[in-house]
Amino acid sequence: MAANSLLLRRAEILLPNGEFLRGDVQIRDRSIVQVAPDISASTVDSGTREIDADGLTLLPGVIDPQVHFRDPGLEHKEDLYTASRACARGGVTSFLEMPNTKPLTTTQTVLNDKLALAASKCLVNYGFFIGATAENLPDLVTANPTPGIKIFMGSMHGALLVDQKAALESIFANGSRLIAVHAEDQDRIRQRREQFAGHSDPAIHSQIQDNQAALEATQLAIGLSKKYHRRLHILHLSTADEAELLRHDKPAWVTAEVTPQHLLLNTSAYETIGTLAQMNPPLRSPHDNDVLWQALLDGVIDFIATDHAPHTLAEKAQPYPNSPSGMPGVETSLALMLTQAVQGRCTVAQVSRWMSTAVAQAYGIPNKGAIAPGYDADLVLVDLNTYRPVVREELQTKCGWSPFEGWNLTGWAAVTIVGGQVVYDHGKFNTEVRGQALTFNQ
Ligand code: DOR
Repeated sequence: MAANSLLLRRAEILLPNGEFLRGDVQIRDRSIVQVAPDISASTVDSGTREIDADGLTLLPGVIDPQVHFRDPGLEHKEDLYTASRACARGGVTSFLEMPNTKPLTTTQTVLNDKLALAASKCLVNYGFFIGATAENLPDLVTANPTPGIKIFMGSMHGALLVDQKAALESIFANGSRLIAVHAEDQDRIRQRREQFAGHSDPAIHSQIQDNQAALEATQLAIGLSKKYHRRLHILHLSTADEAELLRHDKPAWVTAEVTPQHLLLNTSAYETIGTLAQMNPPLRSPHDNDVLWQALLDGVIDFIATDHAPHTLAEKAQPYPNSPSGMPGVETSLALMLTQAVQGRCTVAQVSRWMSTAVAQAYGIPNKGAIAPGYDADLVLVDLNTYRPVVREELQTKCGWSPFEGWNLTGWAAVTIVGGQVVYDHGKFNTEVRGQALTFNQ
């Protein structure tokens, strides 16, 4: 009897070489053991559960490398249980979470507490960044396990803001692990906030935290990364200016990501959804959308993250600038990107590379991001034949809204599998499933 044996039958399987195979995948315990056109029932363990995946496409589970899940301390917006349900529904089987929770994730003790919290309530796999302050260098060097150090160079209040050159220098100069930066220049933002004081139109947000603020911080981060030959990741690249900079000057040890909202939404969204469109870095122009897309297609941008950053509708209803920045994303990201693929803007294989394979490679996450024997059975079966709209009532995120409500999408997850266990199946959740802590070979 094999409690954790699964056989997926007749799926369109995305292979590591980017081609598709119509066939079967055998899973034992947490791992993929066989991928073949037709696996004979006589070779699988008795008691194996079979899933008929006819008409569905099998992809490696999404690894979302930038989310804010608010737990502990801000659970009125989201918590690790509700967020991981949203992940399961969205085909996201692993996530890397940011340190701006309460208390801030700036020490090994707080990191350990967060890992224990996730072990008790998280339906998918998890990893947590260690947050840089101007004072916690020893923790940044030794924290474990963590995908890397998160630096807010701007657009953050309190201890997590590291906007002084000397403090940045010492973080880049010490240790070797990955540094992920939120690159917006705080001085420029401060000045422009004063200049635009008194405005309550949320569209002004994109002018205050403008392209130049992002470009200046990205330039500084790349300069420091070159000076110290330090592994750098640029979070949520948002401007044409930064994409062009990287196109001409991107060291081999630098990676960059983009969010679906910076590809698919622009400043016109303020007219329709107001402060729900407010995030950091802000939405930009249609020209920025186009240049970011091209940079992604050309490999200048390496992968995709959602920056899932939920706030309640009541919080968002405050007039700008009191409305908080951020929007949810884990539930809609895969369907948004697969819809783009089906409509011809890119391929399904590219989407899977950007949302899983390339993330696993960049962060050194072993055995994830591919469908092949020996890899972890973190998988998603998607339906590329049916269109369904984003509906508020169906959302699992605690904040209960999406900037993409009403968008008609294809490529929704039909079945999501975490560590060989079905966690989501056509609208139903197995809430007994627990993810595991990710490890990072860097
Ligand atoms: O819009 C944002 N919201 N950007 C960030 O970097 C932080 C996030 C949040 O935590 O709300």
